[in-house]
Amino acid sequence: MQIITKIEKMQQISDSIKVSRQSIGMVPTMGYLHDGHKSLIKKARENNDIVVVSVFLNPIQFGPDEDFENYPRDLERDAKICEELGADYVFHPDKDDMYPRDFSTFVVPGESMTNVLCGVSRPGHFRGVCTVLTKLFSIVRPDNAYFGEKDIQQLSIVTKLVSDLNLRVNIIGCPIVREEDGLAKSSRNTYLNDEERKAALVLRNSILEGKKLIDSGEMDTEVILKSIVNFINEEPLAKIDYVEIVDFDTFEKIEKIKDNTIIAMAVYIGKTRLIDNILVRI
Ligand code: PAF
Repeated sequence: MQIITKIEKMQQISDSIKVSRQSIGMVPTMGYLHDGHKSLIKKARENNDIVVVSVFLNPIQFGPDEDFENYPRDLERDAKICEELGADYVFHPDKDDMYPRDFSTFVVPGESMTNVLCGVSRPGHFRGVCTVLTKLFSIVRPDNAYFGEKDIQQLSIVTKLVSDLNLRVNIIGCPIVREEDGLAKSSRNTYLNDEERKAALVLRNSILEGKKLIDSGEMDTEVILKSIVNFINEEPLAKIDYVEIVDFDTFEKIEKIKDNTIIAMAVYIGKTRLIDNILVRI
């Protein structure tokens, strides 16, 4: 496995892979890989000739008060994981090469997809995500790109980005990977102390409470939301950023549960903002 740090070098490699008609599976990451990322790399490995994992901590998707400076980084560990999982390349470009001083072109997703859920408290976040992915896709030229369903809004926005801009890559969503007790895997889980780690279970458990209500026949989203919010508020270390029940395709809020509904939430546990969701199928 090779670690490629230069954009031009990655482009040359991708070009020659294309000439040899091999497929490229890409897993875009910001590093500090966990089991969620591993499942994406495994999936990419199963279904492509060549696997490229990008490790790039993208500054433009972080707000001024977010954790860019403190975000965990460990390229050596990430590279080892990628190698063990059979990746062919780790693409780790330099921040200043990706965004030189005169960089001025951004890809801005539609407001209807960004003025809900995570987009509300993270203005500019999805603009940063769409801009970096457009650049990464253009450099690596993957046939398939793999994303976790944990970031369900990101998955939906990236699917729309690729469709709207006719980018020639298939976006493939992969199921949320969880710890044994149900907490969704995330690089941010490393910020939690023991007490917070226990409290963090409130995300998954409150979603399961909501799901239980739906399974018992309750379809009124207001009732379900109230029950989830009350459940979370019982946990002293938890502070809700949002809890929403929305249509998967449009992200519009809905009044009655129907097929393809998402229950999604972001909750602060102490200072750490965690997300989780469930896709409800009827
Ligand atoms: O999900 C992430 O880790 C990032 O948003 C992504 C897709 C790698 C873009 O920087």
